[in-house]
Amino acid sequence: MELTIESILSKSPSQTQAVGISIAKRLRLGDTVALSGEMGCGKTEIIKGICKGLGYKQSVTSPSYIHVHQYKGEIEILHVDFYLDGSEESIYDLGLDEYIGGNCIVLIEWADRFPKTLPNNCWWIDIKHTYTNPEWRNITVTPTNAVN
Ligand SMILES: Nc1ncnc2c1ncn2[C@@H]1O[C@H](COP(=O)(O)OP(=O)(O)O)[C@@H](O)[C@H]1O
Ligand SMILES: [Mg+2]
Repeated sequence: MELTIESILSKSPSQTQAVGISIAKRLRLGDTVALSGEMGCGKTEIIKGICKGLGYKQSVTSPSYIHVHQYKGEIEILHVDFYLDGSEESIYDLGLDEYIGGNCIVLIEWADRFPKTLPNNCWWIDIKHTYTNPEWRNITVTPTNAVN
């Protein structure tokens, strides 16, 4: 088992999307991608790239008020946002268990708010603003430890 943590400096929204596209190539059905980082750091932006990379061609928006968006393209993608959920119970009520590890890819914004609700073998993507430039982001990717 090999664990690799990668750090990438993105200098624009399109570069962040490109990182998402390249991550998508490495995802397998059943994978969960947990995203962390403050408001406006680019979690939705990188998810747009991941969805593109998975062959989904329609628009991707943050599901803040609905909690879960379901995209049905070449493969099924679940786009989840934990931001407005107040408690762990409300996350369990979303019924993600039926999807995690199944025939789809689950992408979760603000995943670090409720880590106990996540499977052990998530991918983690953490995005941080830099002090250097308002358009730059440090993206850290920790691949799942599941066998790929
Ligand atoms: N390098 C960058 N990567 C990602 N987004 C960026 C970058 N530079 C500027 N932005 C802007 O930051 C905002 C990120 O928003 P969004 O992806 O919705 O964040 P989040 O989902 O984390 O709240 C967008 O308006 C985007 O255009
Ligand atoms: Mg978002």
